[in-house]
Amino acid sequence: MWIPRIEGRSGARYRAIADSLAEDVARSRLSAGTRLPTHRALAEALGVTIGTISRAYAEAERRGLVEATVGRGTFVKGGADSPDGWGRTDAVGFPSMVPSQTPRDRQTAEPSLIDLSVNYPVGAYLGAALAPALAGMDEYALLSEVANYQPPSGREEHRAAGARWLQSLRLEADPEDMLVVPGVQGGLAVALGALARPGDVLLTEAQSWPGLHYIAEQRQLRLVPVASDGEGLRPDALEAAIRRHGARLLYCMPTLHNPTNITMPEARRRAIMAVAAAEGLTAIEDDIYGFLAEDAPPPLAAFDPEHAVYITSLSKCVAPGLRIGYMKAPRAQIPRLSAAMRALTMMASSLSAEIASRLIRSGHAATAARHQREAARRRQALAAEALRGLPVQTAPTSFHLWLPLEPPWDTARFVREALAQGVVVTPGDAFQVDPNTPQGVRLCLGAVAEEADLKTALERLTALLARHPQTSLPVV
Ligand SMILES: Cc1ncc(COP(=O)(O)O)c(C=O)c1O
Repeated sequence: MWIPRIEGRSGARYRAIADSLAEDVARSRLSAGTRLPTHRALAEALGVTIGTISRAYAEAERRGLVEATVGRGTFVKGGADSPDGWGRTDAVGFPSMVPSQTPRDRQTAEPSLIDLSVNYPVGAYLGAALAPALAGMDEYALLSEVANYQPPSGREEHRAAGARWLQSLRLEADPEDMLVVPGVQGGLAVALGALARPGDVLLTEAQSWPGLHYIAEQRQLRLVPVASDGEGLRPDALEAAIRRHGARLLYCMPTLHNPTNITMPEARRRAIMAVAAAEGLTAIEDDIYGFLAEDAPPPLAAFDPEHAVYITSLSKCVAPGLRIGYMKAPRAQIPRLSAAMRALTMMASSLSAEIASRLIRSGHAATAARHQREAARRRQALAAEALRGLPVQTAPTSFHLWLPLEPPWDTARFVREALAQGVVVTPGDAFQVDPNTPQGVRLCLGAVAEEADLKTALERLTALLARHPQTSLPVV
């Protein structure tokens, strides 16, 4: 009998059961057509009420994972409307995917699908972005040195190149206050490893980047949402949340927030950092999209370097495969952060950091960033036309859009019907910290190779929204 693994999962039991089911389906531990245990049998096995199992199965049905047939039982779905697991969601609601699958693999598996669910940079530029540095990597003496172990914070000249990159993002940094990190995600794992303990509260926006959910789950951190308005996090809500929960840490995306695209104006940044200083809070700032927003104000760390840990990376502007990013932190925290880096992975790859440094020093990284920014601008213009005035939350050079959904649509139904039209989108649940956040989906513009395919996908979504959801379902 299938038994869900609910230990260690936070939140309501029924959700934990549905999450475990989603995970088992995604990892092929449960195959299409499998009959799930009866409500009573599973309730007994888990020591929960039958009502909890009913809610769990209803939640799984809402996510499109199972199908209940009166008198026969509940069965794992599969087949035509969820090819290869698409449209299902994993433990935190992210569309399930085999980790090794790239959009190209998926398109081979299911050529008719157009993937708007992953926030990739435009792939066609990546090789060209790296080539100038790779061509010069033939000085064996230097390479032998670079290829060896390094201090956890990275080589001095790699941090210096990072400082130069941060300058282009409106942040002055002394290389002594920096770490080379394995991408923003690696930097975040290091920062939270150093600054948070299991059980701690981590404040964040009501919708937050799924990577944060993954780390919070691993590190047993409690994510607590802080209310935002059109200018980002609200200082009064932040102050109230700090006092209520005794929180010491905040994670936020002040520029081109993923998924809402909000960029905090300067006055709001100052107000947020004034609260941080008054309350002894450290803001961990994710500036991965800062290079796209040329008019954005300086990062939070520029207003109060003592209360901010700033992290960015070259993933979206040069290449995610480099796994190179930069962290700037208060000097007093550098030893703790270095210790956390050593524990996690010794150091970021110094070979990658060497490639990144060469690209930064030669100006090729800035050129690559400009190409990605212009591609985003072109694709946003294309999207504005294809989506014909739909009330999306977006910005002229963002890689993504947030599409709010109003009744009779809801997120699960839209994701399912978009998939039936051959378009994969990210369900809003993937970002949800506050369970009351509005229904909606994120549309990513970078992953699709051909702009013509992107246009087709967006036009299909526009046509879908113009229809009442029920009319596209078979009525018997
Ligand atoms: C907000 C945000 N932070 C971090 C990341 C991951 O960045 P990296 O590749 O540098 O780890 C992403 C990737 O989509 C992101 O959207």
